Amino acid sequence: PGAGVSAGPPMGFNHYNHFGNGVTEATVREIADAMVRNGMRAAGYVYVNIDDSWQGGRDANGNIRTNDQFPSGIAALADYVHDRGMKLGIYTTPAARSCAGRVGSEGHEDQDVRSFAAWGVDYIKLDWCGADYSPDGAAAIARKWADAIARSGRPMVLSINAGGTLYVPPWASRIVNLWRTGDDICASWYNQTRSPDPASDCRNRQSAGIRDYLSSNTPANASFVGPGHWADPDMLEVGNAGLSFEEAKTHFSVWAMWSAPLLAGNDPRGMNGTDDASRVLLNTEVIAVDQDSRSVMATKARDDDGLQIWRKPLAGGTQAVALVNTRDAATTMTLSWSDLAWAKVSAMRDLWRHADLVPSGTGYTVNVPAHGTVMLRVAGS
Ligand code: GLA
Repeated sequence: PGAGVSAGPPMGFNHYNHFGNGVTEATVREIADAMVRNGMRAAGYVYVNIDDSWQGGRDANGNIRTNDQFPSGIAALADYVHDRGMKLGIYTTPAARSCAGRVGSEGHEDQDVRSFAAWGVDYIKLDWCGADYSPDGAAAIARKWADAIARSGRPMVLSINAGGTLYVPPWASRIVNLWRTGDDICASWYNQTRSPDPASDCRNRQSAGIRDYLSSNTPANASFVGPGHWADPDMLEVGNAGLSFEEAKTHFSVWAMWSAPLLAGNDPRGMNGTDDASRVLLNTEVIAVDQDSRSVMATKARDDDGLQIWRKPLAGGTQAVALVNTRDAATTMTLSWSDLAWAKVSAMRDLWRHADLVPSGTGYTVNVPAHGTVMLRVAGS
């Protein structure tokens, strides 16, 4: 599915994490402009994705329409985005209503896909609230949408959210490009019940903090991930209040290690190339790990009581490594060459410090801040 649509895991922006249900077309246009200006487009963030709440019911012929938040319609917005060398994504559900209660696509699947194709849409996020979550039922729905896209004649990425935490649909990689693997993300290290901060985004809105993904986005997904089909641990929270700089770096590092889609969920209009969000989202060395042509999903080589070592084989025989300290205090961590199944290492680069390191002995010991990550690219044998 989706061959030629997106070579690596899709990169771009989605409004939901920062703007929720109140986004407008004017804001989306400003964001597209900001992404050109602030270096995001050049770094590969080309999808400008509209989430829930653009839908305004159906006309007399059953054609889906936009609401007052998108008065010019989606085709005009797609033109605007395409004129800037980017792509447009849209959201719907296979049920009667969307997750936010707007009109869904049930009974209008082909008609809506034809509308999206005619508007110039490049990416469909298919959410699932109210639809059939059973494995067979969900697979049948996904197949219906993949077929409708094929019939439309326009290549579009198909991204589904047909499951909850730990859900691994064995059929998904054969039918769709992206499948969600967990609960809605929030801009916090801890989840809803564990967050010590009563004002946290997770307490008030959603449920899964970054720490949760580090234990739940398991190797069970890894065997299904490859070029053209990726596990989706949800959109990024980098740049949103609630994550420290170290936590944001960890979030971005492990998403890259997992070959996950990189959909910025902050307000890119506030980025100027040198702020913290820019330093994370525009780290081209980490992005290159995400976009590696083999699209392997990293697996955990070791987890010593919350000191996690993840490794990801890359094209050309090098490996990416993330040393993740999920503990609440800084500590030293040691990567042993044996963690990489290698006897010796010939070259090593720190992808956050942008510095080459000189490997020696049988491993590498480094201090890692609380909730922080050291990310390396390593050559060896
Ligand atoms: C669900 C999805 C989110 C977002 C909202 C929109 O919660 O998981 O990613 O799309 O619906 O209503």
